[in-house]
Amino acid sequence: MSFTRVLPRLDRLYRSKLFVPGSRLEFFEKAAKSAADVICLDLEDSVAAADKEQARKNVIQALNEIHWGTKMVTMRINGLDTHWCYRDIIDVIEQGGGRLDSIMVPKAGVGADIYAVDMLVSQAEWAVKRERKIGLEVIIESAQGIENINDIAAASPRLETFHFGAADYAASTNMRTTNIGGSNRDYTVLTDPGADGARQNHWGDMWHYMHARMVAAARAHGITPIDGPFGEFNDDEGFRNQATRTAVLGCEGKWAIHPKQVPLANEIYTPPQAEVDKARAILEAMAEAEKKGLGAATLDGMLIDAASIRQSHVIVKKAEQIEAQNS
Ligand code: COA
Ligand code: MG
Repeated sequence: MSFTRVLPRLDRLYRSKLFVPGSRLEFFEKAAKSAADVICLDLEDSVAAADKEQARKNVIQALNEIHWGTKMVTMRINGLDTHWCYRDIIDVIEQGGGRLDSIMVPKAGVGADIYAVDMLVSQAEWAVKRERKIGLEVIIESAQGIENINDIAAASPRLETFHFGAADYAASTNMRTTNIGGSNRDYTVLTDPGADGARQNHWGDMWHYMHARMVAAARAHGITPIDGPFGEFNDDEGFRNQATRTAVLGCEGKWAIHPKQVPLANEIYTPPQAEVDKARAILEAMAEAEKKGLGAATLDGMLIDAASIRQSHVIVKKAEQIEAQNS
């Protein structure tokens, strides 16, 4: 390990984040009663320009009046290049009471974007003498965002989570797709002919680089990486496939843009029992090996050593966190 220690900043579950447009009042209570770990009251792209001011008022009212239980409650503000952004921050902190846990900043491009939001949030918190600090979450969803991701990650100690936004990222880089996450039939690799002369078309994951980049930058700063939206909300299999891939890569959760995606995300970002059992078996086998003075051992024909302990701890710790919440 480096002499520089990085500790995770977020210690709560973030398997599913249900988005609720700030203009759809009829969704609010349903969201509060859902099984989502996190709620996002949205003021940005799911709210029409004409509804922005009213949506902000709705969010303030919802924060004061709705019983959100133990859920993490967040709000997505409008971008820093709009005239709604500053009031989203100031009005909601000044009038929304103490329930807001975190503010989500869309389309962050440079570290100074986050620094500026931190400054506004700090001033509003001081003004209302708020004791519990509001966290920040950032959506990486532009070429600028991915290129400046380390500066963004280092811009504020309030930062707790990174999110990858597929649709805006695709638009910002001129990717030739209108999918929000998922696959694209043209993103394939044709193999060389085999012995029988046949060639195969292998599908690639066009989002892989961005996910992997985000996970590494996030973890290097103690930030939790979260996968963004999957637009085809009737395609459970497609959602499952993408979510499982990002869970394997290290993301701890995913957005739900419809309530039916919440149970799927909760399930997929819970480590499968077989993996938890295997991780526990590795820890037991390594404890036995240590008693015999061995640093490396074998389990079911596989090498295990100190790195296996660290890998297994990740899985067991997550399983225990989920068990604790369910008990
Ligand atoms: N939060 C809470 N409840 C929701 C909901 C949400 N985001 N979306 C739908 N529901 C409720 C509906 O009220 C309905 O409840 P009912 O059975 O009691 O009547 C039920 O879930 C089924 O809704 P459905 O009719 O399938 O959805 P819809 O056509 O009304 O809305 C969307 C579909 C996609 C427009 C809507 O889910 C939505 O606005 N999602 C969030 C979009 C968003 O925030 N995007 C920005 C991030 S990418
Ligand atoms: Mg976006």
